[in-house]
Amino acid sequence: VRSLVYLVATSLDGFIAAPDRDFTPLMVGGDHLAGLAEDYPETFPAPAREALGIDAPNRVFDTVLMGARTYQVPGAVPSPYPQLRQVVFSSRAPAVPGDVEVVDGDAVAYVRRLKADGDGGDLWLCGGAHLAGQLYDEIDRLVLKISPVVLGNGLPLFAGVNPRPRTFLPRRQVDYDNGVRVVTYEGA
Ligand SMILES: NC(=O)c1ccc[n+]([C@@H]2O[C@H](COP(=O)([O-])OP(=O)(O)OC[C@H]3O[C@@H](n4cnc5c(N)ncnc54)[C@H](OP(=O)(O)O)[C@@H]3O)[C@@H](O)[C@H]2O)c1
Repeated sequence: VRSLVYLVATSLDGFIAAPDRDFTPLMVGGDHLAGLAEDYPETFPAPAREALGIDAPNRVFDTVLMGARTYQVPGAVPSPYPQLRQVVFSSRAPAVPGDVEVVDGDAVAYVRRLKADGDGGDLWLCGGAHLAGQLYDEIDRLVLKISPVVLGNGLPLFAGVNPRPRTFLPRRQVDYDNGVRVVTYEGA
């Protein structure tokens, strides 16, 4: 069965962006990028793949799921992850290129259908907080790219979430020289 994996950059205090949705404070450069390019080359957007010379085949994912505001972050290109099946959740029928699918409606039912499809890579939940909140109960694994930064306030990992606590157990942790810690947790 394919897993739904929320792989996301977070601050030390659990925010994925500042209150104004600026996430650049989390985007520290340095050696963790090489580690991520090795483990998850498919999670780099096309311009970054080109700049960093990443052309490795997909390792984990074959699909990326984005909320409309994540798809439309400033500076984003219309087809950010052409190496993946790209799905954007939006009720506004945004203009998208042919290789981006727009879904309006029940995100849980949609993900359950993809999981039931069986074959294929895992499903990358790219964000943001509001899409992650809807898919809270469907998440099988968390990969937190924890930047060495406290934001104090901002957009949490999950927004509008059902408050039922869930347990995730750490399975792998990599500490990079630049202070980024990448921790993989499996849902218990
Ligand atoms: N740190 C990181 O790694 C990271 C990663 C990704 C995002 N981010 C941050 O997160 C921010 C965006 O997060 P967010 O929580 O504000 O927004 P989001 O989850 O990216 O997008 C929310 C929007 O998606 C649409 N949508 C969501 N679920 C839907 C559904 N089931 N059916 C139809 N449409 C649906 C709605 O827009 P419509 O009005 O179009 O319907 C909704 O307003 C970005 O600006 C960025 O700062 C950070």
